[in-house]
Amino acid sequence: EKAGYDHFMLKEIYEQPDAIRDTYRGRMLPQKGLIKMSGINDNIDRLMNAKRIIIVACGTSWHAGLVAEYIFEDLARIPVEVEYASEFRYRNPVISKEDVVIAISQSGETADTMAAIKIAKENGAFVFGVCNVVGSSISRETHAGAYTHAGPEIGVASTKAFTTQITVLSLIALKLGKTKGEISQSDFHAYLNELELIPEKVEKTLLTNNMVEKVAEAYKNAKNCLYLGRGYNFPVALEGALKLKEISYIHAEGYPAAEMKHGPIALIDEMMPVIVIATKKGHYEKVVSNIQEIKSRKGKIIAVVTEGDTSVKKMADHILEVPETFEALTPLLTTIPLQLLSYHIAVKLGKNVDQPRNLAKSVTVE
Ligand code: M6R
Repeated sequence: EKAGYDHFMLKEIYEQPDAIRDTYRGRMLPQKGLIKMSGINDNIDRLMNAKRIIIVACGTSWHAGLVAEYIFEDLARIPVEVEYASEFRYRNPVISKEDVVIAISQSGETADTMAAIKIAKENGAFVFGVCNVVGSSISRETHAGAYTHAGPEIGVASTKAFTTQITVLSLIALKLGKTKGEISQSDFHAYLNELELIPEKVEKTLLTNNMVEKVAEAYKNAKNCLYLGRGYNFPVALEGALKLKEISYIHAEGYPAAEMKHGPIALIDEMMPVIVIATKKGHYEKVVSNIQEIKSRKGKIIAVVTEGDTSVKKMADHILEVPETFEALTPLLTTIPLQLLSYHIAVKLGKNVDQPRNLAKSVTVE
């Protein structure tokens, strides 16, 4: 059932091109310039008139929520807040009938997310679910929703759920942006065409695997790792760090690259691997100067860059290339080498990749 792969996690990483295709199949019609999603179409007024969107989720799903915050604000111009469900549920949040709450959950069974939904509903908000498991508790408790269609995710470390959540949320943001008149017809078309190319680009990104394995060999004994990214790739840095922590038990932290100088830079020495997402768009020059700061403190740099990059290449100790795409879609590519990195390090350390200690696939207790 692992289809020839050693672990479910690796199988699920490699399933991402198909999973993303399954996510947008039938919903996105690039030739016609259309997005059709029943959960959105049926509730379009409610969604368009949202004064604000509050996203509630945990773990990796929360990271997908952070990426969505950037996409919704950028493309649909709707203010977004992203909340840990566990915090939201216990802090007497201000919610009104004009709010739309989006709950993101792979399993659809996470107790904290479920509790957050109940509070949102009690306060009159419209609650939209983004779940993977069909018929799950959260998918039933929400007013409407859209499934990710990633197929079963068995590995405790979430991989294809993350990229398909981002895909669904991008479709929703595009649809709302278009309907609200925030995106021109030509930009909308361009996005759809680019989204259609993403599965192929993910396939290409998976070719970094051999290189990633070498990087894993070089840093498998690290005690700490820092992940840095800016803009759309800041949540990817958080996600990369979470993946490493949960399956290899190496301490890792994700930071917005510019926050380094407010504290974490003190940690950097020749023992510290720093994984930097430095793709061409999205504050490239600024990230390059962040890399220089790390270099001058002798940190080891593993950089995720756009194909053909030259500036970062000169400075980094290791380079992992991803194809070029629209800035808003880069997380779908940049996250891939980070998934592979955590996977290979955990395997090399002899850890139980699919079932890490102390963790369960769905967290149904608080
Ligand atoms: O099923 P959910 O998406 O609600 O799960 C949320 C988190 O428990 C989950 O993403 C967790 O952080 C993963 N193990 C991360 O890989």
